[in-house]
Amino acid sequence: MFLGIDLGTSSLKAVVIDQLHQVRATAEADLTVSHPKANWSEQNPADWDQALIQVCSALAAQIPLHQVERIGLTGQMHGATCLDEQGSVLRPCLLWNDGRASDECLLLNQQMEQLTAHSGNLAMPGFTAPKLMWLKRHEPEVFQRIRQVLLPKDYLRWLLTGVFATDPSDASGTLWMNPATRQWDDTLIEMTDAQRDWLPEVFEGPEETGSVTTEASRKYGLPRVPVVAGGGDNACGALALGISQPGQTLISLGTSGVIFTVSETHQTCPEKTVHAFAHAVPDRWHQMTVTLSAAHSLTWLSTITGQSVTEMVNRVSVSNQTETQVQFLPYLNGERSPHNDPDARGLFANLSSSTTVDDLCLAVLEGVAFSFCDGLDALRAAGAQIESTLSIGGGTRSKYWLQMMANALEIRVDTSDSSMIGPSLGAARLAMKNQKLAYPTEQMTDRSVPTGARRDYYQSKLINYRQTYQAMQQIRAREG
Ligand code: XUL
Repeated sequence: MFLGIDLGTSSLKAVVIDQLHQVRATAEADLTVSHPKANWSEQNPADWDQALIQVCSALAAQIPLHQVERIGLTGQMHGATCLDEQGSVLRPCLLWNDGRASDECLLLNQQMEQLTAHSGNLAMPGFTAPKLMWLKRHEPEVFQRIRQVLLPKDYLRWLLTGVFATDPSDASGTLWMNPATRQWDDTLIEMTDAQRDWLPEVFEGPEETGSVTTEASRKYGLPRVPVVAGGGDNACGALALGISQPGQTLISLGTSGVIFTVSETHQTCPEKTVHAFAHAVPDRWHQMTVTLSAAHSLTWLSTITGQSVTEMVNRVSVSNQTETQVQFLPYLNGERSPHNDPDARGLFANLSSSTTVDDLCLAVLEGVAFSFCDGLDALRAAGAQIESTLSIGGGTRSKYWLQMMANALEIRVDTSDSSMIGPSLGAARLAMKNQKLAYPTEQMTDRSVPTGARRDYYQSKLINYRQTYQAMQQIRAREG
């Protein structure tokens, strides 16, 4: 059996599968994010450790864990977990949706030619390298003590195996890797004041990086088996649906929203905020756009209204209401694609005395769909051919939202049984011994085909959505 562990933002999830890809056990432990200041987003790595203990004991209650043969890791990308000489965590991890490093990105993006030549990506505040530059300026006492920088899933590897290692898909999001060569790049490391010896060794996703230590085996109840490199959560989410061939596309409706499309080579388009990263399987790359607050926007609305997400979305989907005057910009944590603007803010517009929570919920679902429309346009401008997509993530529970996506994006949106399991399944597959059998083409279980319904409504609302952002940007510019 093979264990996949996904260190997500809102929870740590795990799945155990057998050689025939049958799911034998699953478990999940919730995580919270702290926002000590505007634009800051952090998690304490000690909470990841506790969540892993909890998840392993929940798995052990379902199956004999000694039957696990290999382990694969995946998780939220870009996080900066800084360790000192002793391997102790120096401060809370700065997460992928942390926007504090905007000045550092402005500085880096002035050297666009070099960035494009070595990374093919724009500097964005969520990426790891600019966050380390921020630490150098604002927390020099922490910066001086840094001896190792690990991505979140690689911190779990350190706990499990005592080895510092990573993989090209996750490492692409640091801005220290040249995704074309799939190796660390000295020019990028120098440009960002980092040090080569902070960075872990790079292994391809299915390669073994080390084995569970005796101490970790006792702590987590796992056998002393090899841990493979694994991949970033979007790459592993793609592999969970068998997406490894050029042109295959995935949308992820999780805390973040992602359009992910596989390419045969490293195809860049930084001017459109397209992320051009390595895939988690050798000799494959991908292009990606990222909405920072996708399902998170719904969770936020649920928190402030005191109504559960399921309750709100179900009410909207069974009511006859299909349109609303209310417009929502989902920029609660700034936005990556297509704006690369950490200071963008969320907005409800066109409220009236008759606005209901249903209007707000519908507007949030639409606003996230419009952000995906921006992402799709950026990917098409970068040369991607996208006519249909598979989907993954908590948002796929709502058939109503998927149909809205299909209509707004004007592409077919499919789901499969694996859509709800997510990246942990891709990580478990990377751990499988026979890689030839690891990525079967998924059986589609549902299909949302664009119906043309409300095409004019979506088109005019999308124009309004874009203009509203521009107007907000002008107001911010005036306010300085
Ligand atoms: C991708 C990104 C997010 C995180 C969330 O660039 O920042 O999708 O990986 O888990």
